Amino acid sequence: MKRVGSALLLLLLLPMAPVLAAARGNAHSAATAAAAQRGRTFAETHCAQCHAITANGTSPNPEAPPWDDVANREGLTAQTFATFLADAHNYPAAMDFRVERRVIGDIAAYMLTLRRQNYKPTR
Ligand code: HEC
Repeated sequence: MKRVGSALLLLLLLPMAPVLAAARGNAHSAATAAAAQRGRTFAETHCAQCHAITANGTSPNPEAPPWDDVANREGLTAQTFATFLADAHNYPAAMDFRVERRVIGDIAAYMLTLRRQNYKPTR
């Protein structure tokens, strides 16, 4: 009787699995969207004086690549980009600053929103 009971419970819960997974997915994408929004705000004050930080922009500083180009480089992920940002030693000399750890994930989340299929970086 006990076995039947737990089998029955499983049968009742099984159809809920996709619903639960979707709920988790939504919570995740909402968190990512919020992070991307914070990242954009940060970039507007700290990066946009040199870089074009939105799609199809022209960088105020011609030496600074538009973020379109950075975001669409082959192999870029939130992880590789965050690693770059975490290590100021990698930065070009013009970028003489550090990015605080707590905003790194936000900028990376924003950067990924600029990724598009079939976009070919010009540099
Ligand atoms: C004072 C101008 C300036 C500011 C401000 C600035 N950058 Fe840059 N950045 C540059 C220049 C110039 C380059 C390209 C240098 C080169 O290619 O040698 C660059 C390159 C980059 C690159 C590409 C590096 C690579 O691997 O080619 C990334 C990513 C980047 N910047 C991110 C940022 C972020 C994030 C911020 C804001 C937190 C920021 N930059 C603020 C001037 C700036």
